[in-house]
Amino acid sequence: MNTNKKVGIIGAGNVGATLASVLANKNICSQIVLKDLRANVVEAMALDVSQAARAAKSSTKVTFAQTAQEFNNCDVVVITAGIPRKPGMSRDDLLLTNAKIMTSVINEIAPFNKNAIYIIVSNPLDAMVYTALKATGLSKNRIVGMAGVLDSSRMAHFIEEKLTFTPSEIKAAVMGGHGDEMVPLANYSSVDGKDLKEFFSSEEIEDIIVKTRNGGAQIVKLLETGSAYYAPAYSTALMVEAILSDSKETYPCAVMLNGEYGYENIVAGVPVTLGKDGFEKIVELELNEEQKVQFAKSIASIKELVNTIDNNF
Ligand code: NAI
Ligand code: 2OP
Repeated sequence: MNTNKKVGIIGAGNVGATLASVLANKNICSQIVLKDLRANVVEAMALDVSQAARAAKSSTKVTFAQTAQEFNNCDVVVITAGIPRKPGMSRDDLLLTNAKIMTSVINEIAPFNKNAIYIIVSNPLDAMVYTALKATGLSKNRIVGMAGVLDSSRMAHFIEEKLTFTPSEIKAAVMGGHGDEMVPLANYSSVDGKDLKEFFSSEEIEDIIVKTRNGGAQIVKLLETGSAYYAPAYSTALMVEAILSDSKETYPCAVMLNGEYGYENIVAGVPVTLGKDGFEKIVELELNEEQKVQFAKSIASIKELVNTIDNNF
């Protein structure tokens, strides 16, 4: 499905360049344009990804832009620009640096991309989605954050790791903020359509939840110089594909809440349907009492970051 669609990616670092490669090799858009502060690196990434696409027999054209004017008319813009975590840093330590980058980047390119849907990846994710909405004043459905798809994939990995057989399907669900207080939902997760309780003790399920919450930090600690990028890039590609193809698939994404789950004027990860207009509907799952408390804790920690943004921008 190579549609006549254009995807722009700002930040051609680990996540951005890997995402470009995944999208180009999937052959799902006619053009990908990359932009980064590092002029030589962005040119190199565009060349390398384009050459990989030729090997993959994809017809996606991969280019780079040195100016905002050249980065135009995108259907989807993904923003990964920012600094990543180093060992010992939380996602929240990146707050003000990445908020400044987010504000300048999105304000610079928004006038040239009037119909774009934005997918935010930069951390701390929920606060960066809030920053992007505040900076642009765009309608809330047009800016969505990627994290829940990644966190759910991590949960699926930790479920699979504990099984002694190869399942045909693992479904894992995580909501809440993309931070230590995220809310993995064991009761909305399954193996081959069966409840996790049929395979694991409650201690084992708790272990899966803890590992999911620490999944990003585990990779940061091992890498020492940055954070994960293959799973983040693939997770973002799924969201790009859902928007380009107007699939209305449900994915957990960070979006502005407007009364859903009892919260408003705050961004958090919840299941949404994705299509050509961005997120179309927020799916309200029934949470048990413990999950409601966890979600409230997660919202409270996002609220602290958002207050800092409001006081500084
Ligand atoms: P990276 O350091 O490899 O790439 C970031 C890129 O952004 C660099 O190439 C840098 O030159 C560029 N950049 C910085 N300021 C810019 C600007 N003003 N304009 C254009 N480009 C600019 O980092 P990586 O690993 O790609 O991570 C990117 C961001 O995504 C980080 O904030 C990281 O924490 C976040 N992240 C979020 C995930 C999520 O689940 N939401 C998962 C993985 C990473
Ligand atoms: C991750 O979870 C750092 O947010 C990034 O891998």
